[in-house]
Amino acid sequence: MENLSGASVPFWVKDVSFMDTHKLNDNLTCDVCVVGGGIAGLTTAYLLSKEGKRVVLLEAKNIGGGETGRTTAHLSNALDDRFSNLINLFGKDGARLACQSHARAIDMIEKIAQEESIDCDFHRVNGYLFANSRSQEEELMKELEALQQIGWRDVIMRKECPVVSLTALPCIQFPEQGRFHVMKYMGGLLKAFIEKGGQVYTDTKVVEFNSGTVTTVMTEDRHTVAANHLVVATNTPVNDMVTMHTKQAPYRTYAIGIAVPKGAVPDALYWDMEDSYHYIRLQGAEERGAATDLLIVGGEDHKTGHDDHPEKHFYALERWARLKFPMAEEVEFRWSGQVYEPVDKLAFIGRNPGDSKNVYIATGDSGHGMTHGTIAGMLITDLIMGRKNEWEKIYDPSRISLKSAGTFIKENADVAAQMADYVTPGEVSDPSEVMPGTGRLMRKGASKVAVYCDADGVRHECSAVCTHLGCIVHWNNVEKSWDCPCHGSRFDPYGKVVTGPAIKNLDKA
Ligand SMILES: Cc1cc2nc3c(=O)[nH]c(=O)nc-3n(C[C@H](O)[C@H](O)[C@H](O)COP(=O)(O)OP(=O)(O)OC[C@H]3O[C@@H](n4cnc5c(N)ncnc54)[C@H](O)[C@@H]3O)c2cc1C
Ligand code: FES
Repeated sequence: MENLSGASVPFWVKDVSFMDTHKLNDNLTCDVCVVGGGIAGLTTAYLLSKEGKRVVLLEAKNIGGGETGRTTAHLSNALDDRFSNLINLFGKDGARLACQSHARAIDMIEKIAQEESIDCDFHRVNGYLFANSRSQEEELMKELEALQQIGWRDVIMRKECPVVSLTALPCIQFPEQGRFHVMKYMGGLLKAFIEKGGQVYTDTKVVEFNSGTVTTVMTEDRHTVAANHLVVATNTPVNDMVTMHTKQAPYRTYAIGIAVPKGAVPDALYWDMEDSYHYIRLQGAEERGAATDLLIVGGEDHKTGHDDHPEKHFYALERWARLKFPMAEEVEFRWSGQVYEPVDKLAFIGRNPGDSKNVYIATGDSGHGMTHGTIAGMLITDLIMGRKNEWEKIYDPSRISLKSAGTFIKENADVAAQMADYVTPGEVSDPSEVMPGTGRLMRKGASKVAVYCDADGVRHECSAVCTHLGCIVHWNNVEKSWDCPCHGSRFDPYGKVVTGPAIKNLDKA
């Protein structure tokens, strides 16, 4: 499924199709309604059904069809924002709890895979954070100190990285990290959830949220689900217009899958310290039914809607991979996706600020959404079951940290700066200038129009004004989508919502 820009379907999605569409065509009542069928929503739904709750899960597309299917599925508690920063933001105890929560999440994934007999290529592996310059080596030392301060004793500094072509400088070795095949896991989790009495409806988009003692959501087809508790796990909350979107920023990230001779690269996770950093893992030859291992290399992050030539990131990744892994062969996969970076580095999981007490959200996954999503499952289950959970405070969505005020101001100033798009000229002055398979912005009087030219040369126009809070969308030539630079909403070439926070499609031009 190669598109015009060279992006293909992520490795995971290629041969896993585990569920027929079941659209909601009734009105239902239940204990808990979960909106969003990614790892956060499905884990929460599964754990609550294990507690005996009657759970209904509603998903706009298909299970794992959001960012979960686009991940590279490193399972890690070596948090990429560095413990030296987390200690500064949350203190030693907070940073320790964050570290422990991600370790517990890896344990939970392993436990669920075992208990539910999910064959998902789960492996415990080491993780290596490696330096590529003297200043990064100093940063590495600082990180080792921070790790000791939070009591993580079995991390070690190694003089040599297991892959010598990666660096001649030291690296930190993190034990007990993990990797898995995310879509095989999601398939098994879904089956287990349904066996426990869970109800799942896909192709079912929620368009209205009503809070209260009993919460009610309404779908696009005007069916309702009434529940005692509502969990919104839509990656970025679609039930909140402003508050949460000022506390996190959307970034695009890129991945390639490149063949390497079987056994040539030791099975581990690897991360460098560049800004943005590269993340690397393996999928074994047997696991993928091929003669070669697959090296999955990710990175090249940039703010959503801020890059006019996103396809160059695949070439940059490939160049980097060939330099660092000279044995690399053919690139088999290329894909991109979106992550949300919270201003103070940790996800927002818990009660939705300013809402009734029975409405919960999980967002701000950063590059650790596999574990953050699993933490969401554990933490929200405890909150709904009325149990204490020591992670509640560090993940509280209503938290405000003065120490992260600088990042908060920077990200929101960037959002304000996007309003300049209203007065700039269009990229083209006539639809005929838009080439097949691409989109361009055009000025029409006082307004901006998003013009897409399909493969047959037919031009389609819609308003370029994002239906969330009104920024101007930008064309993403890799994903063939209109992306909003403010809070990450994305729309297909014809203006239909792909990802929130927007719920409404782009208006007709
Ligand atoms: C290239 C890439 C590499 C990554 N690598 C890693 C990694 O190595 N390790 C790691 O831990 N994390 C990684 N991540 C991050 C991780 O993949 C995500 O954070 C995680 O999958 C998010 O899960 P989620 O359940 O919150 O969201 P999603 O998987 O996006 O699920 C949300 C779901 O909600 C649905 N939805 C949205 N709106 C509605 C609505 N109105 N009604 C009904 N349903 C709705 C969507 O269709 C979607 O399926 C990576 C991400 C990318 C893109
Ligand atoms: S996503 Fe907020 S204005 Fe577009």
